[in-house]
Amino acid sequence: MSLRAAPKITPGHGTPRAAAAGAMPRHVAIIMDGNGRWAKARHLPRIMGHRKGVEAVRRTIEAAPDLGIEVLTLYAFSSENWRRPADEVSDLMGLLRLYLQTEIAELHANGVRMRFIGDTTAFSTDVIAMLEKAAALTAGNTRLTLVLALNYGAHDELVRVTRAMAVEVAAGTLAPSAIDATEIEARLDTAGLPPPDLVIRTSGEQRLSNFLMWQAAYAELVFTDELWPDFDKASLARAVAAFGQRDRRYGGR
Ligand code: IPE
Ligand code: IPE
Ligand code: MG
Repeated sequence: MSLRAAPKITPGHGTPRAAAAGAMPRHVAIIMDGNGRWAKARHLPRIMGHRKGVEAVRRTIEAAPDLGIEVLTLYAFSSENWRRPADEVSDLMGLLRLYLQTEIAELHANGVRMRFIGDTTAFSTDVIAMLEKAAALTAGNTRLTLVLALNYGAHDELVRVTRAMAVEVAAGTLAPSAIDATEIEARLDTAGLPPPDLVIRTSGEQRLSNFLMWQAAYAELVFTDELWPDFDKASLARAVAAFGQRDRRYGGR
């Protein structure tokens, strides 16, 4: 292997920021977990936990730009969450529909650009239309990019990328030798976004649950015992402060 200039870890996403105390995360991604346990602790139906979770979503979106966050990705529904009982899946779909109907105008007024990752073709046509409309309406906004992960799973995403590349190879428009990290990233759902600097998971669980497995390769991970419906600006600020204490090395020294 020849010695060349240090390669960038995240091709197409700019040079990784040097480790510096007090550094701020540009892109924060959150695994919003614990709605069910929040409801259970109060002897309430799970849907009440999900409804309270929407309030935490609102608080977090509002707090993010003040903390210097440019991109906020929220894991709202995983490709494995269809395994839940039908009534809970249907409650979650109802909540998604209601959220899109009632929040888009205000998000747009607040300068939020909306993007969606995951296989949204699985949703009903009215939801798909709302997602497309929200993305188009807010495309020019610059205060915050809000990425909602809907029917998202990293395995599913990488399967879709692989299939797309196989089709291109078969058509002769992509040479196998041209496949590299940049070509893969250009086909991920997150194409064009910087990779997450910080991944937060609430509820005390310490796992990725199929979230952004490619993109989070060098993300700092912060786990908190708080349940998602209790998450607020102070919780986000604490996670950002913890990030500022980390020493990111990207394999260097
Ligand atoms: C997260 O809360 C919301 C979704 C996964 C949709 P959960 O519903 O997973 O809550 P717990 O983990 O059962 O407490
Ligand atoms: C991850 O939470 C998915 C979302 C937050 C949308 P889960 O509650 O589905 O994850 P597991 O099942 O505990 O790993
Ligand atoms: Mg959970």
